[in-house]
Amino acid sequence: MAQPLRVAAVGLGRLGRLHAENLATRIPGVDLTAVCSVVLDEVLAARKALGVRNGFLSFDEMLERCPLDAVVLTTPSDLHAGQIEAALDAGLHVFCEKPLATMMADCERAAAAVARHPHKVCMLGFMRRYDPSYRFAKTQIDAGAIGRPILFRGYSVDPLSAIEGALKYAPHSAGQFLDMAVHDIDLARWFLGSDPREVYATGGCYAFPEFAQYGDGDNVAALMPFENDAMAFFFAGRTAPHGYNIETEIIGTKAALRINSVPAKHRVEILDAGGVRQACDQHFIDRFGDAYLNELIEFAACIREERQPEIRVEDGVAATRIALAATRAFRERVLISL
Ligand code: NAI
Repeated sequence: MAQPLRVAAVGLGRLGRLHAENLATRIPGVDLTAVCSVVLDEVLAARKALGVRNGFLSFDEMLERCPLDAVVLTTPSDLHAGQIEAALDAGLHVFCEKPLATMMADCERAAAAVARHPHKVCMLGFMRRYDPSYRFAKTQIDAGAIGRPILFRGYSVDPLSAIEGALKYAPHSAGQFLDMAVHDIDLARWFLGSDPREVYATGGCYAFPEFAQYGDGDNVAALMPFENDAMAFFFAGRTAPHGYNIETEIIGTKAALRINSVPAKHRVEILDAGGVRQACDQHFIDRFGDAYLNELIEFAACIREERQPEIRVEDGVAATRIALAATRAFRERVLISL
């Protein structure tokens, strides 16, 4: 049998811990060889909980000292490009969380590194493509079941209960379009098979003025006509009172698809003194647990089978360009041509 892939989990925060756990326990043919974070307690806790042999506080030191095949980067978004470049140049395969970067210059740097290493796998964490419901919708659209797709509508709203974490991460996030709506932007490109030609955006700090210092809003929206004349509407927010609200609609000339239009946790309706209701997921890990696992299984399979994943660095460059255009449209209240 082939040797297990030696993988390091880099970044052990809100999502990184889950990736590390999946790599350690749920992905066939993978050995979680090292964990890395700048927070000592996180490294110690992950080593202990997951039985990991090596722990590092420095990414560069890990690349120098620890024999590895791949890294999984779940670090702040503004570090992604530099870490992708360093890992590829060190001869490693890379899985990197979205977004690819927070600036176009960094996207180009990452894309140039990928081009220098065409035989290395570099995959991005647009995990919704690996969620069974989104995957099913894609097969329906590709089979022509809805006719010509003419409208994409994507809502991504974090629960109000997570506002503290959102405020803490705000200095690194580069704004809601890049942090949240980038998932919907990737889905719109995937489902519509096209790219936007114009971007208009609006929104504001309706409940949390703290976001204004970062040129961000707590609820924002964008409208984009695509090159193939399809329409796309995006809404991203931080203040859903009921939970983690991700809903998507694709309208075609023959039919429409809705994914999770009531963001229910399960199929149980509760009939009580408050009326009839359903529980809602409260966290991205509850809603997309399968997708986070599936994407890493696919990453490991790509390495073993020496093939490239469906999500390429170009998708990260395009989604970042569109999200940054939406951010500028929001800040300056202008219509942007792409
Ligand atoms: P977080 O702030 O909770 O965790 C960041 C981690 O990176 C911490 O462990 C921190 O110590 C570590 N870190 C910081 N600088 C480092 C360095 N120089 N070297 C090594 N480790 C370093 O952030 P969170 O929420 O886990 O987000 C991390 C990334 O994952 C972001 O890019 C974010 O956009 C993405 N993300 C993606 C989600 C998805 O649905 N695909 C959901 C949540 C986050």
